[in-house]
Amino acid sequence: MLHNEDYTRIINYASRAPSSHNTQPWRFRLSHDIIRIIPDLSRSLPVVDPDNRALFISLGCALENLVIAASRFGYSSKGCYAEHDAGIRVGLQRSVETKGDELFHYLKSRQVTRNLYRPEELPTDQTETLRRITPEPGTELQIYSREEGVKRFLPLVTEAGILQFRNQQFVEELVLWSRYSRREAMQTGDGIWSATLGIPSAGRWVGSLIMKHLVTPASEEKRLSKQVVHSGGFALLLAEKDNREHWIRTGRLYQRFGLTSTGMGIRHAHLNMPVEEPVTRKKLAAVAGTVGSIPMLLLRFGYAERMPYSLRRNLHEIIE
Ligand SMILES: Cc1cc2nc3c(=O)[nH]c(=O)nc-3n(C[C@H](O)[C@H](O)[C@H](O)COP(=O)(O)O)c2cc1C
Repeated sequence: MLHNEDYTRIINYASRAPSSHNTQPWRFRLSHDIIRIIPDLSRSLPVVDPDNRALFISLGCALENLVIAASRFGYSSKGCYAEHDAGIRVGLQRSVETKGDELFHYLKSRQVTRNLYRPEELPTDQTETLRRITPEPGTELQIYSREEGVKRFLPLVTEAGILQFRNQQFVEELVLWSRYSRREAMQTGDGIWSATLGIPSAGRWVGSLIMKHLVTPASEEKRLSKQVVHSGGFALLLAEKDNREHWIRTGRLYQRFGLTSTGMGIRHAHLNMPVEEPVTRKKLAAVAGTVGSIPMLLLRFGYAERMPYSLRRNLHEIIE
């Protein structure tokens, strides 16, 4: 039987996982020695993520954190799988043989860092370590050098970014999940807090006005180009199938990438626009030269200063 105090600690670490727009689309349910991660579909993003792909990738990230934290507290986890209705089921068992996962040390310091990185290639031993991260079955991690990645991804990132900022509904959804001051971010404990983007507090009224009228497809193209060029390398995560199970597995792989790179002092952030737009997603698959694999996440990585951390909701809001 899972100890109550351990349960709370494990869920606390699981909730540190990344999620699209920091929606934290999860709830956790305990029964005996089983934890269920339940998708909270009221937190979905119908415009940018109509199929809930990113939502289930986020649940996969939470699952990976959960398994890593559980191992640290002496539990082995078994039979993690996607159930049809009840989300992800994780059976936990106390085990003296369980060795804590090294990645546990980075659960709290990991972040998605949205500033500009040093525009220089990473040493080969570092990129080789990233390449050796073990993927989940049916998923793949491709690591690209700076030079190769800029050439392949820059045109697609800007093309997709322009498409998104021409779409009023996309901007409105982004405004809805943006938090324009510390106070607002602390009140909700979710969403994209402006400080994590390096933008000063503006308040909701001014902030949303800027987003709706001053951020244009052209300004976005410029901003994205700068981010791509100021990178040390790129990671593309792919999966064999575009279904819930593979989305969850992709999330686990992404989280291992995020934690491993954090441990090496490497920052990362998303360049997901070409995955999110159907037209550019096809082109991205062609650019990656994959046969049958589907792009799931595109990331940039490199060296940079840490940014303010995004916030999380209180545990009582996510534990059933
Ligand atoms: C599936 C997925 C998709 C994401 N897409 C983007 C994205 O397109 N742009 C972005 O800046 N961040 C993206 N993020 C990062 C989240 O916004 C970030 O995880 C969240 O704000 C919490 O911050 P943290 O990861 O630093 O704790 C994504 C995260 C996940 C898990």
